[in-house]
Amino acid sequence: MPTGSLFLRYGHGNQCDHRRPLAHSPDDPFLAGRVALVTGAASGIGRACALALAAAGAHVHVVDIAVDAAEAVAEEIGGTAHGIDLADPDAVDALPARVDIVVNNAGLQHVAPIQEFPLERFTLIHKVMVEAPFRLMRRTMPHMYARNWGRIVNISSVHGLRASAFKSAYVSAKHALEGLSKVAALEGAPHGVTSNCVCPGYVRTPLIEGQIAAQAAAHGIPADDVVHDILLERTAIKRLIEPEEVAAAALYLCGPHARHVTGTSFVLDGGWTAR
Ligand SMILES: NC(=O)c1ccc[n+]([C@@H]2O[C@H](COP(=O)([O-])OP(=O)(O)OC[C@H]3O[C@@H](n4cnc5c(N)ncnc54)[C@H](O)[C@@H]3O)[C@@H](O)[C@H]2O)c1
Repeated sequence: MPTGSLFLRYGHGNQCDHRRPLAHSPDDPFLAGRVALVTGAASGIGRACALALAAAGAHVHVVDIAVDAAEAVAEEIGGTAHGIDLADPDAVDALPARVDIVVNNAGLQHVAPIQEFPLERFTLIHKVMVEAPFRLMRRTMPHMYARNWGRIVNISSVHGLRASAFKSAYVSAKHALEGLSKVAALEGAPHGVTSNCVCPGYVRTPLIEGQIAAQAAAHGIPADDVVHDILLERTAIKRLIEPEEVAAAALYLCGPHARHVTGTSFVLDGGWTAR
């Protein structure tokens, strides 16, 4: 085997000469012919996932409540936009079912102590971040089973594994998504379908930019101090993650070298959960 190159040898011992590169090139359209559906794809991590999947050859259904932004992303990647509210069960159940890859990404945050937490916000967060992913799995897994191939990528969070005060709806929804993902992994395994979570720490997206601005105003400190002293307090690597880094993890889980990876939580948290 050549020194310094990454090759995977198929077969047993030295009997097989069939070698394939271990890492696919970024330009390799290994998802050509596949159809993907990404929720919350108009912005942030979802948009980055849609771009990455499209660059790998997939046709992408861009689902988001932000209609104009969803259409702009779809136009950019030659995909199909669906301007719907994921809290509306009928709208979710009308999304395409003939999908090989589902990225459950759409999410929202609300910060308040439990005793003051508005019930309707709690319900909304669970509808968008738990019920909609369940409905999408329920709708698309029969198609994946028929093709004996499918990939479910659930954009969870470090908050799928750890709690923070005042985020009861978000933390409980992400923990539920982790459990749902594992059940889908067990049920999908005999049918060539994998299901995994991606668990980032804080990512530089509009969702977080809003929280940074709010905290800066509340504490009367600069935004950089909010990032370093508050958001990244528990994180060993003191930087925000970029959406493209999360998308690269999602893409790996859909790639040729992740066939044995299922039921896992792919943590990109800069060392937060190492503590
Ligand atoms: N940004 C972070 O630091 C971070 C960290 C860990 C996990 N996450 C998770 O990543 C996912 C994406 O977050 P982001 O930071 O890219 O946020 P974002 O606000 O940039 O994007 C979220 C998208 O979801 C869409 N959306 C929200 N409610 C919807 C609804 N009812 N119907 C349809 N679309 C809806 C929004 O319109 C938006 O386009 C979320 O699940 C979030 O919990 C984010």
